[in-house]
Amino acid sequence: MSDIIKKIVALKDAERKILVGDIMESEKGLKEAFCKMLQKAGEPLLEEFYQSLPQGWDGFIKEQAKGEITISPQKEEKALEEISKMMAGIGATMEKLEKNTVKARKQTLKFRETMKAGFIKLVKVISDQTKGLERGPLQKECPKDAEVIELPKPDKTVIKKSDIFDCIGDRKSRREYSDEALSLEELSYLLWATQGVKKVAGNGTISMRTVPSGGAMHPFETYLAVNNVTGLKKGMYRYQPVDHKLVKLFTVPSMPKKLAKAAIGQGFVGDCAATFIWSAVPYKTEWRYSLEAKKIILQDSGHLCQNLYLACESIGCGTCAIGAYNQKLFDKLCQLDGRDEFVVYVAPVGKI
Ligand SMILES: Cc1cc2nc3c(=O)[nH]c(=O)nc-3n(C[C@H](O)[C@H](O)[C@H](O)COP(=O)(O)O)c2cc1C
Repeated sequence: MSDIIKKIVALKDAERKILVGDIMESEKGLKEAFCKMLQKAGEPLLEEFYQSLPQGWDGFIKEQAKGEITISPQKEEKALEEISKMMAGIGATMEKLEKNTVKARKQTLKFRETMKAGFIKLVKVISDQTKGLERGPLQKECPKDAEVIELPKPDKTVIKKSDIFDCIGDRKSRREYSDEALSLEELSYLLWATQGVKKVAGNGTISMRTVPSGGAMHPFETYLAVNNVTGLKKGMYRYQPVDHKLVKLFTVPSMPKKLAKAAIGQGFVGDCAATFIWSAVPYKTEWRYSLEAKKIILQDSGHLCQNLYLACESIGCGTCAIGAYNQKLFDKLCQLDGRDEFVVYVAPVGKI
């Protein structure tokens, strides 16, 4: 078995990265069989293996290879055969990837265009706003019979660090949190800081919030995976910004595990007090900006997350922006259709 590890160490860096990445992301027991193999491999081979990995990978793999790993002997044997096959085919895999890379390079150049301002093209189309079509409500309806939680009015009593200079200077991505629960007052403050409605105008069609948004379209919904918040049961909630209330949507069995999996193995995304999951409802911005909506929506999403970072900093909490996630799994977790509404940004929050 240590032969396989020796061969992996001897591969070219790019080949090793792809092979080990595929093994660790596999859902067919390859990860478990591989971690068991690592448990049995002695020094100095194990150290050589960890040193051959890209920076930061060793910690993640060591964590996975810790403790008892459950896999049936039959499944383990099959997985080891599969790993050997992958080793043998790594040359062909690399060839295919090289071809894809050439294609991806061309696509990347094309996608650069979508980052540029296209306002000038908007004069050539009639927006739905100009046509007088409805844009939809500022917040979604509460599902019938759903539990609604009144949030405490956001106020300054939760603030520990009130100096904006310090909050900006101390802000950083934090990926480790304590087991301490978040209070409802703290959660209320964070929700207000990220999507809080300060004023409703235009006969209930326009909202002014704590974050800016192109054309004040505010195209987001906030889903909250609650794991450890005083007074709230675990489960998936949605923030109703106009009412400053939470609505309990459903419970998710093994939620921290599912969040970690949907965040491509980033365990801290589930191992926290609450995970903010922002979806976009693109039509809200398309209604006015048509072709230009994509850029504006993604620019807008950055404001939410930055306010979350700064608000967390001010109350002794930490967060980390998450862009590396599995789209389908996150949409499924929030029960979104993936077309008219889909997840665009994620941020776990916990006490530090
Ligand atoms: C759009 C975006 C996506 C990010 N995605 C991830 C992620 O998936 N996982 C992660 O650990 N950090 C993620 N980060 C955090 C960055 O790694 C972090 O901001 C960067 O390393 C700078 O560190 P700092 O935030 O502590 O200043 C993301 C940040 C941004 C802005």
